[in-house]
Amino acid sequence: MQFTVAIDGPAAAGKGTIAKAVAAHFGFAYLDTGLLYRATARKVLDGMDPVAAAKALLPQDFERAGLRTAKVGQAASKIAALPKVRAALVGFQQQFARRDGGAVLDGRDIGTVICPGAEVKLFVTASDEVRAHRRWLELSAGNEAVSEADVLAQLRERDARDRERATAPLKPADDALLLDTSGMSIDEAVAQAVALIAARMG
Ligand code: CDP
Ligand code: CDP
Repeated sequence: MQFTVAIDGPAAAGKGTIAKAVAAHFGFAYLDTGLLYRATARKVLDGMDPVAAAKALLPQDFERAGLRTAKVGQAASKIAALPKVRAALVGFQQQFARRDGGAVLDGRDIGTVICPGAEVKLFVTASDEVRAHRRWLELSAGNEAVSEADVLAQLRERDARDRERATAPLKPADDALLLDTSGMSIDEAVAQAVALIAARMG
């Protein structure tokens, strides 16, 4: 059985949390596509050429420490604007999406570019302030000393770069279902996503 759930949206909207829970609920495989860009960016920060780094990604690159930091996130959004970097990562994502047994992918361009034929497309959002607060809580728990105001400014900068790039910009697909999680707990957001997907499965 092939069934693809595409989950897109801006930073810290709750995409990964929802995607993981939905995958567990339906027994689907899950791919965090942001990790492909973060692992590539990590190699670029080490001095590698961006396209060579994207082409040479190996499973162990996703296990490296520090991939979730703000520094790597910013670097990821810069190299993610390069068409040749994106092209190097398309095949892996599309293969993953069509695997037998169902797949959930979260990112920025899953419903628009990677899987335009996905059975379900969700576009997950939350207000800038709510997203910045969530990300600040995560970074603080991980012992990264940052102010909430700095997190908000960085998140807005990264979202703007992701929305305004020419190749595969962040935007909802025409047929995406919108899910605003601003006032929702994780359980509420997951329950809504599960209900939307279950309705599409019939
Ligand atoms: O994947 P994305 O960057 O969109 O966000 P995430 O990593 O799933 O969520 C960012 C943070 O917000 C995590 O710490 C979640 O636990 C939290 N979150 C929340 O507090 N309320 C929600 N409804 C969804 C996520
Ligand atoms: O977790 P968070 O939402 O903060 O970021 P992420 O999903 O790990 O993505 C990091 C960066 O990778 C984003 O800001 C995008 O520039 C890029 N990205 C992308 O261009 N396309 C994707 N499908 C996933 C991530």
